[in-house]
Amino acid sequence: MSADRRKGLFIVFEGAEGTGKTTQTQLLSESLRRRGLDVDVTREPGGTPLGEQVRRLLLNQQEMQTIDPRVQVLMVSAARAQHVSERIRPKLDQGGVVICDRFTGSTQAYQGAGFRISRRDIERIGEFSTDGLHPDLTVLLDLDVQDGLKRSLSDRDTDWEKAGGINWHGIDFHERVRESFLSQARDNMDQWLVADATAPVTTIASDILDRVSMLIEGRELSQANGLVQRSFPMGGT
Ligand code: TMP
Repeated sequence: MSADRRKGLFIVFEGAEGTGKTTQTQLLSESLRRRGLDVDVTREPGGTPLGEQVRRLLLNQQEMQTIDPRVQVLMVSAARAQHVSERIRPKLDQGGVVICDRFTGSTQAYQGAGFRISRRDIERIGEFSTDGLHPDLTVLLDLDVQDGLKRSLSDRDTDWEKAGGINWHGIDFHERVRESFLSQARDNMDQWLVADATAPVTTIASDILDRVSMLIEGRELSQANGLVQRSFPMGGT
């Protein structure tokens, strides 16, 4: 859906594990809330009771190895359809800001490039599950695969085998995932921002805020106090 038909603002963070998505999600939401905006931070898989159940299934290493990749697509898409209708769309319709950790880009990267499900199939089911909803901006935190895996393992304070979920795949899998994210960004430069995840956290946050500021300008967004007003560019974090 185009931005001018919607009052709210939908921002998605994408990238491999260990790229700092969660930190940047937090920093952006804090900046926007300081502006008084009504911000909802959510994630996929997850974001609703159904979505969180799907997340537990997908991220459980034992289960994951037995779930056919096409079923993975259907599971994340079912969770996404519920997420969009129950949480994301209503918040946007109220003029709120939704910041989501992962969305359709992850399905294209992991199940598409990683597990080699056709791009076209994922696009079709993506349109169906989101009911045509596209993010206003997708921020890709890009990082060398080896560095990302090291960061992700140290974050979880565990080793490769215990990392669970999708991490049991080899480096090639993760290289395909990274390349897919980069290629999605290249194909949609107007809606994607690629950030170098090795840059200082504050530099990345300020680049993201600059881009979000441009999107916010002139848009009707609701304040946390329930008022709706036209927003103007923001300064600083
Ligand atoms: P994260 O919360 O650390 O980002 O982990 C979520 C995992 O789920 C991550 O390994 C990517 C995976 N995932 C998919 O495989 N397909 C999807 O569509 C989504 C949203 C996530």
